[in-house]
Amino acid sequence: MSITIRRMTGVLGAEVAGVNLCGPLQPDEVADIRKALLEHEVLAFRDQPITPEQHIQFAKYFGEVKQPPVRTKHTPWPEINVVDQTNALGQGADDWHNDNTYTAEPPFGSILHLVKAPSAGGDTAFASMGAAYDALAAPFRRMLDELTAVHDVTKSATKGVKYGHLSTSVAELQQMHPPVEHPVVRTIPETGRKVLFVNPNSTTHIVGMSEGESDAILRFLYEHVKRLEFHCRVAWDESTVVFLDNRVCQHYAVPDYNERRILHRVAIKGDRPV
Ligand code: SIN
Repeated sequence: MSITIRRMTGVLGAEVAGVNLCGPLQPDEVADIRKALLEHEVLAFRDQPITPEQHIQFAKYFGEVKQPPVRTKHTPWPEINVVDQTNALGQGADDWHNDNTYTAEPPFGSILHLVKAPSAGGDTAFASMGAAYDALAAPFRRMLDELTAVHDVTKSATKGVKYGHLSTSVAELQQMHPPVEHPVVRTIPETGRKVLFVNPNSTTHIVGMSEGESDAILRFLYEHVKRLEFHCRVAWDESTVVFLDNRVCQHYAVPDYNERRILHRVAIKGDRPV
């Protein structure tokens, strides 16, 4: 194996060394990274001062690069979603979430590069949704296995417009992205692993339940995912790149800074969750 792996916790996350993301990758390096991602859910690569073009090129080794379904204001690169924040508290990335689950085929993976780091703070935390699922009691898991939920762009779009990140109106975004239904528990084809797949930024309700029943289950699951034993955390510098499997882990941008922080995100096309 050409790359070396150091696990961040006993549950998810690994630091990967022995590869240069600024240049072309060999097929065995791509295969090793893909295998490591399936195993560890989130990979951090240090000492990788990539340009935006190299960032996009790296993502293309792992699938089709999708233009963001909601385009942020600040980027000259159509493939790059720019998260540019100074007072991030309450702006949406500080809720546990998977990216873009309001689309029929949410991204398989997201590759993140912090291009401007605050002098302290601004880490990103990650939660294993497989570990969160496994920790539930069997009868509760069996009930969740049968359920589907509706995901809607409205909440994240409203925050994006309110905080000045988007130039499209909420109404236009609602028209572009009508609500979609996804399983509450999805199965990852390559591993057969079951993972929870609801998130407070876009899941509105569970299908076929009363509002009270649906709200109670979603509230419980959102609290459950906050358990620290499901988490790992990456402290950034401007030459760190993170590759996350958006199907199996959620992320949370810690809003503990008051300086400008700019993150570039490139998303890789995913399949319809099953
Ligand atoms: C996001 O993709 O939600 C942003 C993550 C971050 O800013 O750390």
